Amino acid sequence: MSRFPAVRMRRLRRTPALRSLNFKVRVHPSDLVYPVFVDERAKSPVPINSMPGCFRFPLARLVKEVGQALELGIRAILLFGVPSRKDEVGSSAFAKNGVVQRAVRVLKREFGEDLAVMTDVCMCQYTTHGHCGVVRNGRVDNDSTLEMLKRIAVSHAQAGADFVAPSSMMDGQVRAIREALDDSGFKEVGIMAYSAKFASCFYGPFREAADSKPRFGDRRSYQMGYGRPSEALREMELDLAEGADILMIKPALAYLDLLCLAKSRFNVPIAAYNVSGEYSMVKAAARLGWIDEREAVVEILTAIKRAGADLIISYHAREAIPWLSRL
Ligand code: PBG
Repeated sequence: MSRFPAVRMRRLRRTPALRSLNFKVRVHPSDLVYPVFVDERAKSPVPINSMPGCFRFPLARLVKEVGQALELGIRAILLFGVPSRKDEVGSSAFAKNGVVQRAVRVLKREFGEDLAVMTDVCMCQYTTHGHCGVVRNGRVDNDSTLEMLKRIAVSHAQAGADFVAPSSMMDGQVRAIREALDDSGFKEVGIMAYSAKFASCFYGPFREAADSKPRFGDRRSYQMGYGRPSEALREMELDLAEGADILMIKPALAYLDLLCLAKSRFNVPIAAYNVSGEYSMVKAAARLGWIDEREAVVEILTAIKRAGADLIISYHAREAIPWLSRL
């Protein structure tokens, strides 16, 4: 019989140099997508109470903010607009001079192809009722919402967006947008589909940030229930068939199992959205001195990548870059 086990796992962990060898999952700045809020009413950056360290930026500050992110190595942003005017059908979401459209033009003029500009395509920030679609008889009406989403997506493409990201969870939204983009001459504009978007309490801080809380009811008639994993796979299959270029799972942390499944099943880039509530929990615990923020953020981002995410949308993106290089 051999003596004490020939296999000793700790040999690979003995020194910092051995531990740093590159047979492990590492998050790279270009894995990250930085979400940016642009606020039509803001004169200077407005701190978001529920998301310490995040701001709603005025148009005039956008180039500076995004430029700094680019310098750190971030290559993509996801833009959210906070308009000065809301109405029943969210018409400022597709206005030629809407806040997102103007922001995209400014950023594209400044950074061109060095920056991938992705835009959230939804209605909730733009409607008085705060729902993600057109409300008819107290319900969110699927097919009339598709018509609005098409207009929003095309208006973003006209402004110069590289990718549009439909997030309203309407049936057929990817196909409708794909066709609208193609018909308007934007064959090269891609779609990152919020495919498996769950009705989640973790969006709470975002709704404060974007002023997009539903004024009545909730979003459970269109966002998914978290107890039904096969439905998430079905949503992803459908979005792929409808022409999605990137599939997204959202939120990330409570859904790592689905990320892993999606990665093994679909041969397209998989994105994970590390949402506002996930961000704010880390910030809150760190403020109380209960966790080490840097270590927590790096561990979280690494876990999301390890589970299968090719892209990670995270509010931590900017601040995390210097922390990642010390891995
Ligand atoms: C818009 C949208 C939401 C988020 C992204 N796009 C809010 C929602 O669905 O209520 C949430 C992002 C986050 O919490 O970080 N529909």
